[in-house]
Amino acid sequence: MRYVNGHIEFLDKAGIKDNSVDIIISNCVVNLSPDKQRVLSEAYRVLAPGGEMYFSDVYSDRRMPKEAQEHEVLWGECISGALYTGDFKAICRQVGFADPRQMSINEITIQDPDLKQVTGNARFFSITYRLFKLPGLLEPACEDYGQYAIYKGTISGQQHAYELDDGHTFVTGKPALVCGNTAAMVGEQNKSWLSKHFQVVGDRTVHHGAFPCGPSSSSTVAAVKPAPTGGSCC
Ligand SMILES: C[S@@+](CC[C@H](N)C(=O)[O-])C[C@H]1O[C@@H](n2cnc3c(N)ncnc32)[C@H](O)[C@@H]1O
Repeated sequence: MRYVNGHIEFLDKAGIKDNSVDIIISNCVVNLSPDKQRVLSEAYRVLAPGGEMYFSDVYSDRRMPKEAQEHEVLWGECISGALYTGDFKAICRQVGFADPRQMSINEITIQDPDLKQVTGNARFFSITYRLFKLPGLLEPACEDYGQYAIYKGTISGQQHAYELDDGHTFVTGKPALVCGNTAAMVGEQNKSWLSKHFQVVGDRTVHHGAFPCGPSSSSTVAAVKPAPTGGSCC
């Protein structure tokens, strides 16, 4: 590991080469970038195939009006730079992260009436996502090929179960049916960093239709219950 100083949008200028990074972690930085598309495309470029970006940031349930984006306090508080979740997913797909997976979501509420006046009806969330770089293996939707995966219990501190995202917790030793994308994330063709921790059985020879995958219905932005007070991303 080495320390490199730079801006998150300009990993190229920081000298970080293509396909050279195993994992990117970040907390509450992307919302502060004026060019989020470049942040994600740079992340995709530098990640090695099979690696992932695992990060928490602030998102909103709508696009922010210009007035809010130019509000220094709201920007500095990591609120008005929040990316609309719909735009985030579209950018992910454009740059190559075809299947963003959500780990957790918590609402952030604004208490100050003056700030609330500027943000209006917008709601804000701290969300942790995982973006896997698996070129050629991730499809736009979850498809059923009859594959299943077995977690080996070999990740340090997670011997009993492994949570891939908020819709998939693999119990050690217990076979679980998975879609093609999940199979790729946990190890199909030995392409993911998780491959050595899972046995994936089956290939994509026979398609059985759509797979009912995705985040649990209670964890989408629309379904998250308003937080009673406060909350923050960091
Ligand atoms: C809210 S703090 C989060 C810090 C830290 N990740 C944590 O969890 O405590 C945001 C940090 O992002 C840095 N930052 C803002 N814009 C950035 C950019 N374009 N590239 C890299 N870092 C940036 C700021 O300097 C600040 O340290």
